[in-house]
Amino acid sequence: MKDQLLELEKRGNDEISAINDPSDLEPFRIKYLGKKGALTSLMKSLGKLSREERPEAGKLANQIKVNLSRRFQEVKTSIEAGKSGGATSVDVTLPGRVPLYGHLHPITQVIKEVCLIFSRMGFRVVKGPNVELDYYNFEALNLPKDHPARDMQDTFYISENVVLRTHTSPIQVRVMETRQPPVSVIAPGKVYRRDSDVSHTPMFHQVEGLLVDRDVSFGELKGTLTRFIHQMFGSDTRLRFRPSFFPFTEPSAEVDIQCVMCGGKGCRTCSRTGWLEILGSGMVDPEVYGFVDYDPDVYSGFAFGMGIERIAMLKYGIDDIQLFFKNDMRFLSQF
Ligand code: PHE
Repeated sequence: MKDQLLELEKRGNDEISAINDPSDLEPFRIKYLGKKGALTSLMKSLGKLSREERPEAGKLANQIKVNLSRRFQEVKTSIEAGKSGGATSVDVTLPGRVPLYGHLHPITQVIKEVCLIFSRMGFRVVKGPNVELDYYNFEALNLPKDHPARDMQDTFYISENVVLRTHTSPIQVRVMETRQPPVSVIAPGKVYRRDSDVSHTPMFHQVEGLLVDRDVSFGELKGTLTRFIHQMFGSDTRLRFRPSFFPFTEPSAEVDIQCVMCGGKGCRTCSRTGWLEILGSGMVDPEVYGFVDYDPDVYSGFAFGMGIERIAMLKYGIDDIQLFFKNDMRFLSQF
């Protein structure tokens, strides 16, 4: 009896495992688990066994019924869910599952691209601290404590002499303090200002550039930045140098590119001017050389600083800076 039961279980298991077609399910159930099925008839014959044999065989029969029923339910559920049934068949025509790839944040991508363009021109990438001394952020950049130009940048103060850097320009001072000319560096990083609206966030990114050597002229500043803009925005992009003021450069210029939205005709993005400001620049002010022990009669150089979010917004036509920091996958996955 025991052998018969085990044999039945084995056959049942083999059969259910081969089922793929839902129409085979019910015949299987009737054949094995139904009222007139194989298992039921074996159970009925338990009565013919001796008193000693009966309990053990009964227990086994019940166990087999539970096992087969459970296996039957599993296969049924899996077939109904559209998967292959008991049989482990593979549909090789199904498209493969594409893994979810991550990628760099668009701001990181733009920083890398800017740094790559300048590296190819011989600039070396350097970094500086986000928490900065007032001395490097302001004072050595020709912005003494009571200077009105400090109001241009709404500063987060850590203490009286320590700030969250408001720009990457303090890196200029740190580089010149530790190295003699010729120097040419590019310095990306986070900067902080108390400001928040569609075009400002309290933390954003800048890339600073500095080149100092003998006989560096404004022409080299123009040539370097023109080349950068043509590589970044395309070689037909028009640009202009507009006189400006920074305490640490003299003369200073802001660089505008022709509006990428309207092509220079004038629209909302460029406030109808046809031009978009993308960076500040100038010849390093001789006053700054005084703080770092460079001889202004021997050396000259230029510096520039650009906002990365702004460049990314222009490059990709994004009108709200806050999108960069919301971490919404619908936005991020487009880059
Ligand atoms: N640090 C200036 C700013 O944040 C930009 C700048 C850098 C201007 C270097 C001139 C030279 O606005």
